[in-house]
Amino acid sequence: MDEIRKGLENVIALETSIAFIDGEQGILKYRGHDINDLSKLSYYEVSHLLVKGSLPDGRELEDYSNELKQERFIPSDAMAVLSSCNFNIEAMDALRTTISYLSHCDSDMNGNSSEENIRKGMRMIAKFPVIVAMFYRIKTGQEIVEADTSMSHGANFLYMLRGERPSDLEAEIIEKDFILSAEHELNPSTFASRLATSTLTDIYSAIIAGVCTLKGPLHGGARMAVMEMLDEVGSVENAGLYVADKVNLHEKLMGFGHRVYKTYDPRARIYKELARQIAAEKGDLSWFEIAESIEKAAFKEFVENKGKTIYPNVDFYSAVVYKYLEIPPKLATAVFAIGRISGWIAHCLEQYSDNRVIRPRAKFVEI
Ligand code: ACO
Repeated sequence: MDEIRKGLENVIALETSIAFIDGEQGILKYRGHDINDLSKLSYYEVSHLLVKGSLPDGRELEDYSNELKQERFIPSDAMAVLSSCNFNIEAMDALRTTISYLSHCDSDMNGNSSEENIRKGMRMIAKFPVIVAMFYRIKTGQEIVEADTSMSHGANFLYMLRGERPSDLEAEIIEKDFILSAEHELNPSTFASRLATSTLTDIYSAIIAGVCTLKGPLHGGARMAVMEMLDEVGSVENAGLYVADKVNLHEKLMGFGHRVYKTYDPRARIYKELARQIAAEKGDLSWFEIAESIEKAAFKEFVENKGKTIYPNVDFYSAVVYKYLEIPPKLATAVFAIGRISGWIAHCLEQYSDNRVIRPRAKFVEI
């Protein structure tokens, strides 16, 4: 049997035309478009690029946006399921349960054609933010806020979450957050979705596999962990000691390190700038400065002292942005999923279109 690469490190499992990553140079492209350029577009444009394969022209964008906006609701029985969720859980668990229930309400559930899967995928793209916002409103004893179809995907999410319109900058930043979170090649949750898809299961089941996998703290769950870390560190003065303790105890510093990037994650660079902008608008630099001092201490420990290539990843400064957007930590991974769903759908469609069941081998060892 061939060499075993623990964690499948650097194993090329399949071909894709959805994402390109150069982990040495810190380059990320969705379907050939650099992430720095894409972050200037709207989420629906980027979602169209991922799901339909190309950036939309004006008419295509209007149609795509209208279709998604019409799906910004969940039926009342799905709301009842959401209401019956345990409210001490993370929003991710409520999202998983509600998406599973929604599959029962979908008229295309029994079809597996490309058209049916795109329709189901678009319903999920539209309903993810609705579920997360409603979960929060119910959990906190507040009235449900109906969707506003005049708003962008991001602005409407913040509106439904908080019950008031976000500032222009907040709306712009949450839209960019969804774009930056939308796609990242064969990360664990996308791989889980593709693996499920390869059995020719339905697309809801495949997306639920992705949701379950994103939740883990070594993957998307790190975003929530970083928010908690910012609270724990609490001041710029504590950052050095906090990082040194983590290193001495051989514990992971959340929001740092990456399987593929051996340099600064290009998304982290953009998030850092967004965090700086929102901190300035709020007139409170504290979270940004704490994060920067953690980054500086981590650079000293990992890069200067140990010669390792451990830099902030996508979850680090996104968590700082969420602090300023007042997104509660228990919602953080689910907000990540609101962006990532378009990438998952794209990968499921790609897998269905050229499928072979994914079934690796294990080497038996006697114990
Ligand atoms: N803090 C401290 N040390 C680290 C970190 C970190 N965040 N990341 C990697 N290292 C060290 C490891 O201890 C290990 O050191 P060693 O060789 O001396 O034993 C070495 O770097 C390699 O680390 P692995 O964990 O083997 O790297 P792997 O590629 O398996 O893991 C991962 C990548 C999971 C992202 C890792 O860096 C990590 O756990 N980071 C913290 C959690 C996190 O932020 N996850 C989000 C990633 S982005 C995303 O999934 C959306």
